[in-house]
Formats: sequence, C-alpha cells, structure tokens
Amino acid sequence: AEKPIYRASTTAPVNIAVIKYWGKRDPKLNLPTNSSLSVSLDQADLRTHTTASCSSSYSSPDTLTLNSKPESLEGARPQACLSSLRALRSELEEKDPSLPKLSTLPLRIVSSNNFPTAAGLASSAAGFAALIRAIADLYELPQDPTTLSLIARQGSGSACRSLLGGYVAWDHGTEADGSDSKARLVAPKSHWPSMRALILVASHEKKDVSSTAGMQTTVQTSQLFKTRAEVVVPAAMEAMEKAIAEKDFESFAKVTMRDSDSFHATCLDTTPPIFYMNDTSRAAIRAVENLNKRAGKIIAAYTFDAGPNAVIYYLHENREAVVGPFKRALGEKEGWLGQQGAAIGYAEIAQ
Ligand code: PMV
Repeated sequence: AEKPIYRASTTAPVNIAVIKYWGKRDPKLNLPTNSSLSVSLDQADLRTHTTASCSSSYSSPDTLTLNSKPESLEGARPQACLSSLRALRSELEEKDPSLPKLSTLPLRIVSSNNFPTAAGLASSAAGFAALIRAIADLYELPQDPTTLSLIARQGSGSACRSLLGGYVAWDHGTEADGSDSKARLVAPKSHWPSMRALILVASHEKKDVSSTAGMQTTVQTSQLFKTRAEVVVPAAMEAMEKAIAEKDFESFAKVTMRDSDSFHATCLDTTPPIFYMNDTSRAAIRAVENLNKRAGKIIAAYTFDAGPNAVIYYLHENREAVVGPFKRALGEKEGWLGQQGAAIGYAEIAQ
C-alpha cells in the first residue's frame, strides 16, 4: 500500500522589538535577563511560510530547506524544539492509540521568506515561530500560541514573540526551568491599527557578531549592562505598556528610541566593543530627529536590532512627513532592491 504523507502549512510574522532582549540568564534554555516587547509586522510584507510533513516513506534524518537551500537541523536549538514537539505528539498518541504514530516519523520542513534573508531582518524569529507552528499543526497539538512560545523560545529567544500578532511582550520569568518565560499579548493590531513600520536596509551584509555571541560578551564584560537589565528595562516596559494602552505615540516613540540607544550603548560598553550601527544608521537617526523637529512633535521613532538596518515606526496619518524625506534621500527608490545599495520597505502590523 502507498505510504501516506501527512502535511501542514503555516506562516509566522517578523517582529521588531521596541524594548530589546539582550542577555541570557540561561543560555541553554534561552532565558533572558530582561523582559522585552515587540510589534509583529504584517505577513503580507514580512513573513516566513513553512510546510512541515512526515511520512514513513521519508528517510532519516529530519531535513530543513530554507529558500530552496538545505539547512542544518543538527544544532542543540532546533533539536530542543523538535524533541519538545515530538514529546507532545507522543503524549496524544499514548492517550489515543487510534492516532497515527507521527511522532516517530522523519520530518521534512520547507521554509521560505518573502523578504531578503540577507537583509539582516529578524528572520530567525519568524523562521523558528513558523517551524514550531507548522509542526504543531501537523501533529494536531491542542496547545495555545502562548504555550507554543515556550518551545519557540528555545529555538531563538525572540521567536517566542512571533507566535502572536500585534503588540507582544516576552516576560523574562523567574523559574529556573523557564516555564514562565513566554510571550504575552499586550494588545491586538486592532487596538492601534494605524501603526506602520518603515524598514531602511542600510546593508545587506550578514552581521559580524551573532546575537548569541554578542549577548554573552555583553553579559560578561559590560558595566552598563547590569543597570540596563535591573533598572532601565523594567521602567521602560512599564512606560511602553502604558503608551500602547493609551495609544500615546509620543511616549511610544520616546521609549522606543531610548531603548534602542541603551541597547547599543551596552554593545559599545562590551569588551571588545560591538558596533552594529554604521554611518547610514547614524544618518537615519539624524533624519528622524530632523523630521520630528520639523513636525514640532514626535511622529517617528527609530530602532536598530543587532545590525545596521533601521526600523522606523510611525502612524499612518504621518506617512508623507515620515516616509517622504527617506524616499527623497534614496532617490525615490522603493521596495526591496536586491542585494546592493540602500532600500526601503513598508510594513503594517500583523493581526
Ligand atoms: O532571538 P535572538 O537570539 O536572535 O536575539 C535577538 C536580539 C535583538 O533582535 C537585538 C533584540 C530583540 O529583542 O529582538
């Protein structure tokens, strides 16, 4: 008889943090030293699409294809995710022996991003979130997105936030086993639907210090880091949740920019120092300052992850005043421009 192939497909959004995760208190479980908060970007603009399938006709080991290229699943992180998902499936199979024994079958994962992977955008977050969700769907797991975020977190910390749309917190938690270190919905997109993100690709090059390596050196060597984790971020989390609840863009923007600056300050305070921003990044900061000055109020907020690309948050009604100057500076170029030169893209917020 023909051996069946079981299959499920899903997508997960890219998220861009306005309060940054930087520092692990447990590198094995990916437990953070501080909480973080992000906005999930609309999937039409930036997302990973993943199909997971399994079959007894497949040969071992499990495989992953990303944008048509084979990628390794060997690392401890993907392995932790796969074994957690298999354990949940095998619990279901034990309870209901009529279910097909999918937990023991080899998996084939096929993923693609609708944005340039090399652009240095948070592709690992969307990637791990889509991987976890696709397999959870394939296995028909009953767990909700918050519970699945515990598994995604073990793949890439920030991935736990990509299991939810809208405005999402990742609470650092206090349990040693990480059971309370998971994503929480702060507000759905519908709460504040006019939020937009302008993405300025300052370089297509791969970052030179990975986030895992960078975080570890910062934790070990930065003197500013302790204050950031213990004082700066807890206050910023509170202010950010209030700004979102009240749809107060000026406060949202101030906290976002200060937190990006604080994160990059701890990178500079690391030995040896880590430089994620470049001249184009700094020009983008000046451009945001200037357009806020021109507007007489804060209508745009910059933030930078572990790389030189800027994400600029603004409200839809201020689109022309925010996007116009960048478009003019880039010679009216729009959209993803391939592999060289600066480029801009736009994103709405994910549901
Ligand atoms: O999830 P990781 O290990 O790729 O780290 C992400 C770190 C930042 O993007 C810089 C901040 C964040 O909260 O997303």
